[in-house]
Amino acid sequence: MPAVGGIGPGTGKEYPGNLTPYVMVTCIVAAMGGLIFGYDIGISGGVTTMTPFLKRFFRSVWEKKEADKSKNQYCQYDSQTLTMFTSSLYLAALLSSIVASTVTRKLGRKLSMLFGGLLFFAGALINGFAKAVWMLIVGRILLGFGIGFANQSVPLYLSEMAPYRFRGALNIGFQLSITVGILIANVLNYFFAKIKGGWGWRLSLGGAMVPALIITVGSLVLPDTPNSMIERGQTEEAKAKLKRIRGVDDVEEEFRDLVAASETSKLIEHPWRNLLQRKYRPHITMAILIPFFQQLTGINVIMFYAPVLFSTIGFKDDSALMSAVITGVVNVGATVVSIYGVDKWGRRFLFLEGGVQMLICQAVVAACIGAKFGINGNPGELPKWYAIVVVLFICIYVAGFAWSWGPLGWLVPSEIFPLEIRSAAQSINVSVNMLFTFAVAQVFLTMLCHLKFGLFLFFAFFVLIMSVFVYYFLPETKGIPIEEMSRVWKSHWYWSRFVEDLDYPNGGMEMGKGGQGVKDV
Ligand code: BGC
Repeated sequence: MPAVGGIGPGTGKEYPGNLTPYVMVTCIVAAMGGLIFGYDIGISGGVTTMTPFLKRFFRSVWEKKEADKSKNQYCQYDSQTLTMFTSSLYLAALLSSIVASTVTRKLGRKLSMLFGGLLFFAGALINGFAKAVWMLIVGRILLGFGIGFANQSVPLYLSEMAPYRFRGALNIGFQLSITVGILIANVLNYFFAKIKGGWGWRLSLGGAMVPALIITVGSLVLPDTPNSMIERGQTEEAKAKLKRIRGVDDVEEEFRDLVAASETSKLIEHPWRNLLQRKYRPHITMAILIPFFQQLTGINVIMFYAPVLFSTIGFKDDSALMSAVITGVVNVGATVVSIYGVDKWGRRFLFLEGGVQMLICQAVVAACIGAKFGINGNPGELPKWYAIVVVLFICIYVAGFAWSWGPLGWLVPSEIFPLEIRSAAQSINVSVNMLFTFAVAQVFLTMLCHLKFGLFLFFAFFVLIMSVFVYYFLPETKGIPIEEMSRVWKSHWYWSRFVEDLDYPNGGMEMGKGGQGVKDV
């Protein structure tokens, strides 16, 4: 339904260029920037179920847990300081992505990645050697700064480097390394929790130094993107780089468009104020709503608290950590499906299919937990089949997320912004994402305690809303060169009213100056 979904592929320009080994390697290295984020998402939930860690830093939570054994399971982990440990990081990431936006624009994408790696390294070091709660929190704030920088720059880097026909697949490399990071963290937690002496949590937290080193070294060897080089005045080098990346000599058309995009972008003195212009209404709406909806799927309830959740529904500590490993494997596997399908089936199909799948699973999980735990949270003896059904539906839910909102929540924003607002709009995307990651992390345990199984229905409601939103308002962006994206808005039943011809006098868009009007707009 083109009126709703926007235009199909095949209209407009087709820049020559191949999926060269050079671009592949570059994108794989850059995508590893997702490892730090993933490692952190996965590690904190597991660490907070490790008894020696709780006893040392959050004694009251541990005492409450011990004392509460037979009572209300929904509330045993409800502690503001414990949640602050998990969520302080996301507030820091929110703030730093705003600074990172200027660094990414003025100094290039790779320098932002470098800062990200270094800050994250420092945070991991402090956490690994933590002696008091304040060290834990300071460490996590540094980790958060690192993540803000990396999440600001890596998705942009990937979308700019990739030949447009493979942009989806290469960009999802970022999400793939997030999921690999989560899985590695879950597996490590499982083994480190068994270390006699009870200091395994130090290895879990300090282990974050490894992905930090990977992105630090990676950022030193990576080239900057041609878009960013042009933006910073290195025009000749940028052209040579573009030829190298695309593996063809005939890059004239794409190059001209990049230069034109950059010229338009230079006219803008205040990228932030600029964002408020009417013609950017569709972009700003997506920069806010996509990350908001991504977090309101409730995914991080599973990612942060899977061990807590599974132990709440009656698993022993060990099998709770094991279940987190299982969901971690599903998360990685389903992301690979998305890499395969995103440039074939398109973004909208994945969004909508994933939405329906998550909705069904959330309803089933709510029903299962409601049936056994009821309102008072005291389940009595739980049969084995029960645990299997809950874990199974949680896995199907995770798969639904992992091939839809997970990767697309990073891909779509990074590909829809014109260069002149790209860094600023991306930092809004990162900030909103972090704000709601923080909010979910911070209130989840309290919500579980009060809403009980209804918590899953709360998120199901949002999944319904976001799917309707995608259906009516999100145009398909598959197969459209990044500097040509404005035509998806121009032909959209709703957004076209914001994008007037006047904004793009040459019939094209920001790169219209390159002399190439866009066909079939
Ligand atoms: C989200 C994270 C989430 C992860 C799960 C990412 O796209 O931004 O919040 O934990 O996916 O794989």
